Amino acid sequence: MYKTKLDQKFSPYQMPCVIIGTIINEKPNFMICTWVSRVNRNPPLWIASINKKHLTMIGIKETNLFSINFPSADLIKKVDYIGITSGRDIDKSSLFEIFYGDLNVPLIKECTLSIELKVKKLIELSDHYIILGRAINSYIGEEYKTNGVPDMKKMKPVIYTGVEKKSTYWLLGEKLGDAFKLGKEFKK
Ligand SMILES: Cc1cc2nc3c(=O)[nH]c(=O)nc-3n(C[C@H](O)[C@H](O)[C@H](O)COP(=O)(O)O)c2cc1C
Repeated sequence: MYKTKLDQKFSPYQMPCVIIGTIINEKPNFMICTWVSRVNRNPPLWIASINKKHLTMIGIKETNLFSINFPSADLIKKVDYIGITSGRDIDKSSLFEIFYGDLNVPLIKECTLSIELKVKKLIELSDHYIILGRAINSYIGEEYKTNGVPDMKKMKPVIYTGVEKKSTYWLLGEKLGDAFKLGKEFKK
């Protein structure tokens, strides 16, 4: 198969599109983050990579707390808005309905799933910090469950691809099959 080298600026693979929440100057602030992932089962650890210049990063460094909120596709315009505006210029504190769990970190009611986290470690890179956070609690809207289990069709998570000059949001597509089971049907 013939392969060519790709410009390193490209990230054409799929990423989750989440909203990071924090408190800065005693007010909630929100930004989009797509460089984010769960990285450990027990304890439940997550990483988010956030630019040093973002107001959010200052809030996270001050409070050692942040939230990860999963928007549904229905919220996409508002979600993009918080990714193209800084809390330095615009007050983003009242864009969403907010609730609080056990930590002083804003969680978004309109999102399907929200996680409150404590910072465990900051890894400093040249322009970003990788924030390693421990999830303390996760909250899901009951309406996004089927038979007591989170239902991706109802949650409508947003996917992001960052091909240069073609940054795009996508809606999760069709189910392919059950993970950890399909391989058992594979015959060499
Ligand atoms: C689609 C999209 C994805 C983004 N992903 C990230 C990311 O992973 N990490 C990051 O630091 N900034 C990311 N940003 C940029 C921030 O969301 C943006 O700069 C925001 O305005 C920062 O807000 P703040 O200054 O209020 O913290 C993304 C923006 C968009 C539109």
